[in-house]
Amino acid sequence: MQTKIEKISPLSALAVNIIEEVPESVIDFLSFREKLSFSNISRPEKRVEWISARLAIKKALDCISLPYPGFFKDENGKSHPMDGYGHVSLTHTRGIAAAIFHKDMAVGIDLDYIREKVVRLGPKFLDVSEMDFLDNDPELHTTAWSAKESIFKCQGKRGVSLKDNIILEPFSVNDKVIKGRIYGTEFSDHHYTVKVEKEKDIVMTYTIW
Ligand SMILES: CC(C)(COP(=O)(O)OP(=O)(O)OC[C@H]1O[C@@H](n2cnc3c(N)ncnc32)[C@H](O)[C@@H]1OP(=O)(O)O)[C@@H](O)C(=O)NCCC(=O)NCCS
Repeated sequence: MQTKIEKISPLSALAVNIIEEVPESVIDFLSFREKLSFSNISRPEKRVEWISARLAIKKALDCISLPYPGFFKDENGKSHPMDGYGHVSLTHTRGIAAAIFHKDMAVGIDLDYIREKVVRLGPKFLDVSEMDFLDNDPELHTTAWSAKESIFKCQGKRGVSLKDNIILEPFSVNDKVIKGRIYGTEFSDHHYTVKVEKEKDIVMTYTIW
């Protein structure tokens, strides 16, 4: 996956940031509250992931000519713009971070490395009907995991279980879009469409409208 900034529409953009050393002075654009959160992260690799995700959202906002408003976290851990306008989602893992913004619609984004071990974890996050079409394939399993995480982040509430409350329609390895639904909770019958992008051993998914 390469660094990119993509204008999805006049109201929405995403950015992917390959993580590099970032000079501490780069944090100047953050809000006071965010600088405080940043100062509480002690592990150097986590600090650089955290700031890279914020740089990604700044780049996405620049791309649709919106100012960086600063973001705060709600009680579930989901970030919201301090000025109350728009929706954001962030993801970061070893070496890479990404963020998506939409002015009107809730969003969710997730990045994962394709790993064999995700197949073993299948029973923890998949319904039996999903295990049938994922067929012990690590790439398909990682994509399913990532799509569910994106849907989870889009809705944002902690009580929603990937296994019991988010169900994906069957998809194959070349599909670029996956359909999913939340069921069996007070947030039931929300339908989601998730875009899939893959490069080398990384899968990125994000919700679209
Ligand atoms: C919260 C969760 C989605 C984070 O995902 P992750 O893969 O660990 O980490 P990512 O880097 O992709 O995403 C981290 C970002 O998610 C965001 N996030 C955290 N909680 C969130 C929530 N409730 N809603 C939306 N976004 C959330 C934060 O912005 C966080 O970044 P930050 O800490 O730098 O602000 C994940 O830990 C989770 O709880 N998943 C679903 C629950 C589940 O069923 N898990 C186990 C199944 S076996």
